[in-house]
Amino acid sequence: MPSEPLDATWCADQLHTQIVARRLLYYPRISSTNDEALRLADGGEPEGVVVVADTQTAGRGRQGRRWQDEPGQCLLFSLLLRPAAEPRLLPILSLGAAAAVAEVLSSRYGIAIVTKWPNDLVIGGRKVGGLLLERRGEAVVVGLGLNVNGRPDSLQAHIDRPLTTLEAEYGAPLPREEVLVGIIEKMDDIYRQFQAGDNVGLIHRYRKFESLLGQAVCVTVDTRQICGRAEAISDLGALVVATAQGQREITAGEVELLVESE
Ligand code: BTN
Repeated sequence: MPSEPLDATWCADQLHTQIVARRLLYYPRISSTNDEALRLADGGEPEGVVVVADTQTAGRGRQGRRWQDEPGQCLLFSLLLRPAAEPRLLPILSLGAAAAVAEVLSSRYGIAIVTKWPNDLVIGGRKVGGLLLERRGEAVVVGLGLNVNGRPDSLQAHIDRPLTTLEAEYGAPLPREEVLVGIIEKMDDIYRQFQAGDNVGLIHRYRKFESLLGQAVCVTVDTRQICGRAEAISDLGALVVATAQGQREITAGEVELLVESE
């Protein structure tokens, strides 16, 4: 399907935010919006800039993976922030950003989107997007990749896990500009809540979407596997897993869902 370039001028006109997207930089093609935001951070750029692109040539995902996009069909953007909070609280910001995406897509479009701790956005068991938070000194970059339009098959060719797009789930293409403005406005709200220190409130917003709770999981943490039942998301954003050896709080890892036999 032919795609139009993102209308970044329209987006900038629509946005009514306080911090996020004070400045919006659009690139038809870039290596990685996260890399560009980190480069801006190194140059002393104030917080609030959003770098958005129609395609990336070296998009990065978690765990050193590549992030593939279908040019002109996805949302690919990164926010540069300079939060006051100490680094151990940053997972809360990352979970808050995931909640922002889920809140917008569920309330505006009625899409049954859930989160898969820590940073996946999932519809019907298929990944539709993900977040990548990276630190550079005092600066933090939050990157979002979201498969908006198009058919999942072209993206699926590069990825070994089930994928989907919003269009495939919603049944019609969505205007990327409208989705972008909605998510950025919600992220502004989330960030101000984070800066105000309302971590419990943010985790509460996130928990409503978390799909792992009650499920049998194995979490890979470095080279170890921790298996058990996902019980909770702690107030600091950790995944609480009940294992045969007792309760474990996991702050970072890759989760695999176990299918239980009856
Ligand atoms: C993941 O699920 O592994 C996280 C994916 C994050 C991808 C986005 S796309 C925009 C930004 N720029 C990047 O290079 N990565 C993030």
